[in-house]
Amino acid sequence: MTQPVRLQDRPAWGYLLRDYYEFYRFLSAGGSAAIRSHQKTVRERISRVIKSNAEVRETEGVSKPVTAHLQRGLDNGRLERHAPFIRALETVREHLVWQYGYEKVPRGLERNYAYAELAGPTGPVVTDEIILGLVLFAPGCTYPAHAHDGIAESYICLSGAVSENDQGVYAPGSLIFNPPSHLHRITVADRNPALLCYAWVGDRDKLSNQKMVFTRPRSTSK
Ligand SMILES: [Fe+2]
Repeated sequence: MTQPVRLQDRPAWGYLLRDYYEFYRFLSAGGSAAIRSHQKTVRERISRVIKSNAEVRETEGVSKPVTAHLQRGLDNGRLERHAPFIRALETVREHLVWQYGYEKVPRGLERNYAYAELAGPTGPVVTDEIILGLVLFAPGCTYPAHAHDGIAESYICLSGAVSENDQGVYAPGSLIFNPPSHLHRITVADRNPALLCYAWVGDRDKLSNQKMVFTRPRSTSK
């Protein structure tokens, strides 16, 4: 039987996880105890993934229409303080599996949105500690209101600008925190794509049961 491939065999993924960890260390919590505690949880879990020398299931990448905007998103992100993180993403770019997460994609989203997981129960870095991934939105996209049952979520804006629930504008380097069940709707500025990374923490069973398959209240679905 062949041995599984592990982080030590694929250093690009290890570096990416380390950079993720650093991201959650140097970003300000803005004085919020809840956000500070979330950032700490994310760091602890990433740390465990690295220490366990987790399995890496690298596959060939899958694109979606929105990935035509990825280069622009990365290029813009490289102008920011987190340029090293963008560089780490580029080293695994060919393995990113971009997907929708919906059985039936809400109208208008097929061309404007996709996400790719970096770590989680189904890989590429295999773990049930945490889910880490990227979301890419085309300019002008509206991502319908949704909430995550039992999962605390944070998005970090890597490039572009987004708003959540029409409350505030998040430029590159901003962190948005969504506690479990918090309903949120994302809008994206008109001229550039928005590239976000996210972290989900929750109980193992919650993490293994959800991807971007949302609890979406009927009344607010787009
Ligand atoms: Fe979300």
